[in-house]
Amino acid sequence: MSLRAYRASLLWFEPGAHYEEDGLLVVGPNAKGVQVVQAIGSWRSLSPSYCRQPIEHLPGRLIAPGFVDMHVHFPQTNVMGSPAAGLLPWLENYTFPEEQRFESQAYSEEAAGFFLDELLRNGVTTALAFATSHTTSVNALFSQAQARHLRLITGLCLMDRHAPQALLNQPGRTTNAAEQSLIESEALITRWHGKDRLGYAITPRFAPTSTDEQLQAAGELAARYPQTWIQSHVSENKDEIAWARELFPQSKSYLATYADFGLMRERAVYAHCIHFDDDDRALMRETGAVAAISPTSNLFLGSGFFDYAGADRVGFGYGLASDVGGGTSFSPFHTMLAAYYVGREGQSKTGLSLSPQHLWWQHTAGAARALGLEGVVGNLLPGCEADFVVINPKATPLLARKTALAGSLDELLFSMIVLGDDRLIERVVIAHPPTVQSDTTPGAPLS
Ligand code: GUN
Ligand code: ZN
Repeated sequence: MSLRAYRASLLWFEPGAHYEEDGLLVVGPNAKGVQVVQAIGSWRSLSPSYCRQPIEHLPGRLIAPGFVDMHVHFPQTNVMGSPAAGLLPWLENYTFPEEQRFESQAYSEEAAGFFLDELLRNGVTTALAFATSHTTSVNALFSQAQARHLRLITGLCLMDRHAPQALLNQPGRTTNAAEQSLIESEALITRWHGKDRLGYAITPRFAPTSTDEQLQAAGELAARYPQTWIQSHVSENKDEIAWARELFPQSKSYLATYADFGLMRERAVYAHCIHFDDDDRALMRETGAVAAISPTSNLFLGSGFFDYAGADRVGFGYGLASDVGGGTSFSPFHTMLAAYYVGREGQSKTGLSLSPQHLWWQHTAGAARALGLEGVVGNLLPGCEADFVVINPKATPLLARKTALAGSLDELLFSMIVLGDDRLIERVVIAHPPTVQSDTTPGAPLS
């Protein structure tokens, strides 16, 4: 078996953060040829066993799990930084017009390639992403992710009302838009789900842009394919909530609408989850659905603050997400810092302050666990797929000055969370079959 070993500082989760100042990470193929972690620990304890392997020494560098973005929109790269009074005008004036362009295959492919390269440049190696309501956009994102050997989950955006006609799912020759969108979703599941490192997410955009018929059919599809994901939005903005309550008055709450249509289960990921009461939180816990917390988006659109104390008190799963283009950055460092601000806001009521280790966990092992991918990505325990980042904590003069002063792991991580961005990510290593050529450009995916 051909192994590769890296000597550097190491960060992983067991489940608490574990740091090894002088560590050794050993990577090699599993039975399917995917590069996985074979061993991790201190240089002193592991080097006798692996001294015959090629060892790459990376002094002064920190190897950490690739980041996991639980909710991001690939067609919204160009929408970032679009000013609006709130979610609904932002959707109408900027997002829906841009998403209409993804009917074009050429446009979709260029945007998908740029998006994935941008994720990688920022150290994000796994994403649960929205596409648009056009199958072209879904195929483009899957193809581009496959070419880069990425673990990526996406799906056809389901919306059959309350958006511009060109963005709604289109009827077939003998089917209405709802029926046709589910036929197309099932065909995409067959084509992509479980192929290489790709997964399919059944994707009703949010309840207000789907008819009862479409939500019902989406829930039935989700029951037929329990290994697929579900992704949507919920309880982000007060106007959105009022609209959803008007459209689905029979449900007990906006969130409960999704449960009523069979759209809450394990592997169901709801973005935002801000304006919840304890019944909503209990519904999340009981169904196994999880929240994708999107703090830069929530601050940018003025949506509100995720209630960490409420989530922990009732006990449902969550992790971090950029929510680009409502979100303002692809960088996990920016997202973790915004999550810290959100935790501070809650602290005035609850005394909670999010620790740097917990913030980092939410964007790696915690996000992977929430996605049902614990032990697969987001960590560097033996058996995990070898997606990792090589961080240079001295990437800028200010970071060099500040990280040199760190006297604990929390201080080191927090320096990077507060002062860091894509410049910290020196290299990204993606697990894939060993035959693929490597590239040593900084920030590029390597073998
Ligand atoms: N709710 C429905 N669609 C969207 C979207 O594209 N972004 C955000 N932030 N919320 C939504
Ligand atoms: Zn979103």
